[in-house]
Amino acid sequence: MRILVCKNYDEMSKKAAQMILSQVTLKPDSILGLATGSTPIGMYKNLIDMYKNRIIDFSEVKTFNLDEYYKLPVDNDQSYHYFMDDNLFNHININRENINIPNGMAENIEEECIRYDEKIKKSNGIDIQVLGIGRNAHIGFNEPTVNFEKRTYVVELQESTRMANSRFFNSLDEVPKKAITMGTGSIFESKKIMLLASGKEKAKAIYDTIHGKITPEVPASILQLHNDVVVILDEEAASLLDTKEYKSL
Ligand code: PGA
Repeated sequence: MRILVCKNYDEMSKKAAQMILSQVTLKPDSILGLATGSTPIGMYKNLIDMYKNRIIDFSEVKTFNLDEYYKLPVDNDQSYHYFMDDNLFNHININRENINIPNGMAENIEEECIRYDEKIKKSNGIDIQVLGIGRNAHIGFNEPTVNFEKRTYVVELQESTRMANSRFFNSLDEVPKKAITMGTGSIFESKKIMLLASGKEKAKAIYDTIHGKITPEVPASILQLHNDVVVILDEEAASLLDTKEYKSL
């Protein structure tokens, strides 16, 4: 794992966007694995600016998002379909046919899980997967549990995750209880992984991910076994690490 510690959220976001720029410059038809949540919003803003300044071209890029709420209509402003349009896709030149997000409204959700994994496989796999991390060290919506899930599946969200995400809804009751998410196995198959975290509330999850035991109780800890992971942190998220060991930017 390569750990980069940035001064603050803005620097982390810039660095993350630069990595996507390098990826897409080297391979214009890159397959990007994308994430939602507060963390990558700054990176998306930087990418939109790069696009407006003609520094990056998304016309051949394909994307796969990690997850979506179960049975939340895509036009609901809390759906991850809506989030991605609002925070990225509506502002860049991506071909809409190249956008993939799990369909939480599918009538046959089991089939949807299989379809999603097959589509990733058919596209030759994700070149770089962007990840945020939950306070409980979840990646995608893979919550701490007793085994690592291999494939895309429907997950029961933990109360702590629903509470954390309730800040975007009118009340906790409105937060869906389930989600469809790529499994840790599907995430692990990505060729490169870029994990982003900012803020003190992520410091323990980051410490456990990097230094803890590899266990499905800390879903992100599986990344210790991947051979191409970059973790980009702000100083607060890195505050429990011995930062002398890592490259500071
Ligand atoms: P956040 O969520 O970026 O909103 O903190 C991250 C996550 O839960 O994966």
